[in-house]
Amino acid sequence: MNLTLQPGRPLRGELTLPADKSLSHRAALLSAMACGRSRVAPFLQAGVTQVLLDAITQLGVEWSLEDGVLTLRSPGYQAWRAPANPLWCGNSATTLRLLAGALAASGLPAVLDGSPGLRRRPMARVVEPLRAMGAPFTPGETAPLTLLARSPAQPLRGLTYHLPVASAQVKSALLLAGLAAGSLLTLTGTGWSRDHTERLLAHLGVDVQVELADEPGGCVTLHPPASPLPPLDLTLPGDFSSAAFLIVAAAISPGSCLTLPGVGLNPTRTGLLDALQAMGADITVQPQPDAGGEPVGCLTVRHAPLTGTTVAGSLVTRMIDEFPAFAVAACFARGETVVRDAAELRHKESDRITVLAGLLRAAGADFTETPAGFAIRGRGNLSGNATLDPHGDHRLAMALAVAGLAADHPLTVRGAEIIAESFPGFPATLRALGADLTEEAA
Ligand code: S3P
Repeated sequence: MNLTLQPGRPLRGELTLPADKSLSHRAALLSAMACGRSRVAPFLQAGVTQVLLDAITQLGVEWSLEDGVLTLRSPGYQAWRAPANPLWCGNSATTLRLLAGALAASGLPAVLDGSPGLRRRPMARVVEPLRAMGAPFTPGETAPLTLLARSPAQPLRGLTYHLPVASAQVKSALLLAGLAAGSLLTLTGTGWSRDHTERLLAHLGVDVQVELADEPGGCVTLHPPASPLPPLDLTLPGDFSSAAFLIVAAAISPGSCLTLPGVGLNPTRTGLLDALQAMGADITVQPQPDAGGEPVGCLTVRHAPLTGTTVAGSLVTRMIDEFPAFAVAACFARGETVVRDAAELRHKESDRITVLAGLLRAAGADFTETPAGFAIRGRGNLSGNATLDPHGDHRLAMALAVAGLAADHPLTVRGAEIIAESFPGFPATLRALGADLTEEAA
């Protein structure tokens, strides 16, 4: 599908965002690991969560998803059945890495696989520490991953482990495996990686201690629970990472004013607010009651002139998914924006340094790539190529669409159907807020 944006229309109005992707993944998988009937609402109904739901069906978990309400019944991970076929994780590294940890806990044999893009992403970071805990993964550092059956006579061991990258996916996989370990799990180097799994486990009564600190600091300790996990009854907030595209869209489009209630504001996720506020963005935050053990707020964003800034250190971790949107904001700012300490961006749905460099240069940006980041000399506009291909990366597709709202000429995003991986209805949402856009079958 080609999405064509006509620039020059302000975005105005109020919008409730789809449920948080990271929390939807964790809520579904922890409900599947728990014993009994769980309920999660609203649940993100999107490509990346559908693959997880399909995978847990193979484990003997029953679920229904109606009007955004996920109801799930599970016998608990100790009573899962071995999957008959490889578990298909599509484009979702969160699904694959978290399932690797949960399956390690179960002791069942399984194969985890996904799209060509997912097969290129690094998995040694999760497989090696899981092996050290006693999970019998066969040799191999990329998907498909094969896990052999583990006999109950060989329980998983606790582990003291320093994460080489502050990755929430790796941390979460180890925590899920740690639920079945015979002793303490201690993870260091966890930095400011998102702490949703820890919050949910604490909510379920598991003894988990968290220390957020700048890398290489940060520590999480888990005492394996003696009793099965109880079922969940959770309300999830809106996804800050989906909000990010609308925040940047309003910040760069003259005349815009957007209100976004019910957005998850976990401080491990909201680095983009700090970065944009340092650039002069007009964003106000009104706290709202917590949801699912997570802080929530209502954001109001108005257009304002932006200036360049520097992003480095733990701020990178706190906005790890927001660089496509942030880079667009930097193009529409005046002055230089520099990003350092962000080599991890090369291991996302695409190499988000090289691919972003190619796309934004084609769109007219002055973009310099560095090994672990980039620099953009913002000129307050974009006026280059009009048709861009986001390389099958949902966040790049949305970032380009946002650029098209404020560019000097119409912009077409090819392959825009990939957006439904995390934000189904994104084009309709932009239209409802006043954008002028057309969707066309390619
Ligand atoms: C996620 C963690 C992040 C993020 C991804 C979702 C999660 O990855 O990029 O979109 O839900 O745990 P890393 O933890 O590998 O940085």
